[in-house]
Amino acid sequence: MRDILKLLSCMLFSFSVAAMEPITPLEAVQDLSLDKVRLGQKLFSDERLSRDNSVSCLSCHDLSINGADEKSLSLGINGKKAVIKTPTVYNTTYNFAQFWDGRSRTLENQVSGPIHNPLEMGSHWGEVIRKLQNDAAIVRSFNTLYDDGLTASNIADAIATFERSLVTVDSDFDRWLKGEENVLSEEAKQGYALFKSYGCISCHQGRNVGGNMYAHMGTFGNYFSDRKLPITKADYGRFNVTGIEEDKYLFKVPSLRLVSLQKYFFHDASESNLESAVKIMAYYQLGRDVNDTDAKLIAKFLQSLVGRHTLLEQR
Ligand code: HEC
Ligand code: HEC
Repeated sequence: MRDILKLLSCMLFSFSVAAMEPITPLEAVQDLSLDKVRLGQKLFSDERLSRDNSVSCLSCHDLSINGADEKSLSLGINGKKAVIKTPTVYNTTYNFAQFWDGRSRTLENQVSGPIHNPLEMGSHWGEVIRKLQNDAAIVRSFNTLYDDGLTASNIADAIATFERSLVTVDSDFDRWLKGEENVLSEEAKQGYALFKSYGCISCHQGRNVGGNMYAHMGTFGNYFSDRKLPITKADYGRFNVTGIEEDKYLFKVPSLRLVSLQKYFFHDASESNLESAVKIMAYYQLGRDVNDTDAKLIAKFLQSLVGRHTLLEQR
């Protein structure tokens, strides 16, 4: 009986803490094998993962800027352009699915995507493994860390393990959530209040401030016809995975943790000003107009979400 009471009060306690704020602090992933993290980090910057040894994961996911790059659309092998904006790899461990259309459930699964994509690395596992097999040091690392040595799934496992270590902790906002009253500016606090009262929080929520549900781009109003650019296959979003008509223009709600470090916004990189992106969101996702003052305050809140990681430039 006492155990049950204890369990109940514990559940109530965690419920009330969780219920206080719809965003929770980011926590580093515990118990990662450091040797696998190191091996994964090496592979992440290894250009042999691309057909002509010219592109690595790091080429498009620059960890010192924001885990993506500053181009509207990244360039793969032979200067080919990606069809959708590159998202950050930071904090992806806390996304419920990977890619804008959620076509990969896990980070492990995701890895073979860019390796095989003709616009990105244009290679295949056979070719990658053949090249890495000639590298005695790499082969040795795999043999030490994995029973079956150098295989496609072990390469994916090492890279995914490295990616799990890419969590940006201790942002001003998270420290404030944890009780440090004075670390958050008044403006950021007001911005957070507006983020909740306008209703942004209904989609961008949880510890990644996104990354845990899908939503249509253009819940109120037709974003795509107003955009005046031809509609591409990439614009169809989740429809490309499910083939279900209602899934057209449905996207994974992106994490806003590092959004203020981006140069371009939205899957189509159509916006380059954060405050304008906030206004577009309010208009198309909530049917609301946001004035300049409120957009600025919300942007201040978004800036306070940027946490720290040793690979992310100190700013
Ligand atoms: C040529 C540029 C390029 C290269 C090289 C590249 N990526 Fe990406 N990455 C992208 C683009 C573009 C997307 C978004 C694609 C989509 O959603 O359809 C993406 C998406 C991702 C995502 C999903 C993030 C999210 O929030 O959905 C992860 C994780 C990722 N890449 C990791 C990697 C890894 C690991 C490698 C190396 C094996 C790699 N990328 C190589 C451009 C690149
Ligand atoms: C109905 C769900 C929903 C609501 C409400 C919502 N968003 Fe979004 N948000 C999304 C989706 C989906 C995307 C991705 C759309 C795309 O790229 O085409 C997005 C993208 C963004 C981006 C760009 C992210 C990036 O990586 O480029 C920002 C910034 C943003 N939202 C901020 C806000 C703000 C601020 C509000 C409130 C004013 C808000 N959102 C309300 C679903 C929503």
